[in-house]
Amino acid sequence: MVEVRYIGHSAVLLTDGKTRIVIDPFLTGNPKAALRVDEVRADLILVTHAHGDHFGDAVALSKKGGVVVSTFEIATYAEKHGARSLPMNIGGRHRFEGGWLQWMPAWHSSSFPDGTYGGMPMGVVVELGGKRIYHAGDTALFSDMRLIGELGLDLALLPIGDHFTMGPQDALKALELLRPKRVVPIHYGTFPPIEQDGAAFAREAQKMGVEGMALAPGETLRLD
Ligand code: NI
Ligand code: MN
Repeated sequence: MVEVRYIGHSAVLLTDGKTRIVIDPFLTGNPKAALRVDEVRADLILVTHAHGDHFGDAVALSKKGGVVVSTFEIATYAEKHGARSLPMNIGGRHRFEGGWLQWMPAWHSSSFPDGTYGGMPMGVVVELGGKRIYHAGDTALFSDMRLIGELGLDLALLPIGDHFTMGPQDALKALELLRPKRVVPIHYGTFPPIEQDGAAFAREAQKMGVEGMALAPGETLRLD
């Protein structure tokens, strides 16, 4: 069993009741965030790339006890700002109590607001509570998603905002390659340039045989 709580934008919290994992913890300054930093505690803080709407509160959360897991560049940056970190890179797998995570490619860019290079942008597959979850990060559609799908995905979290990432049409094409059991749209509705209809996307996914769910920020999806 794993619980997936959508915090808002690309931020999600995963837990099997023991290990707690937060991905792309953009809370402060996120108009859609359902949780504040003081309400989140995570053992692992996964950051897909350095942009402010993903790195977010990673350092503040680490100071409360979690480890920032990301590219070598982002991990180094986080350490410099007082976090504990685990530097990794694309393709690498890390095993932890209750599961593992593996970094996947993403087609995007990755620099901090101050210009520091963040390494290559990434997506991530997490196995926790016996379920496999793919968080695509910020990315365009790419055909190697087929390889990610071969892992057998219980859930895909896909950006549909367009403008900075793939939009709904390409995200539906991604579903053909990934073939997950379920899909939850992310990275939309936070700011005007990425306004999209998540419910409409979920309905289109349904027609393809993928259970689509547009979670409102704060909502939890339980995978048994
Ligand atoms: Ni980005
Ligand atoms: Mn973004």
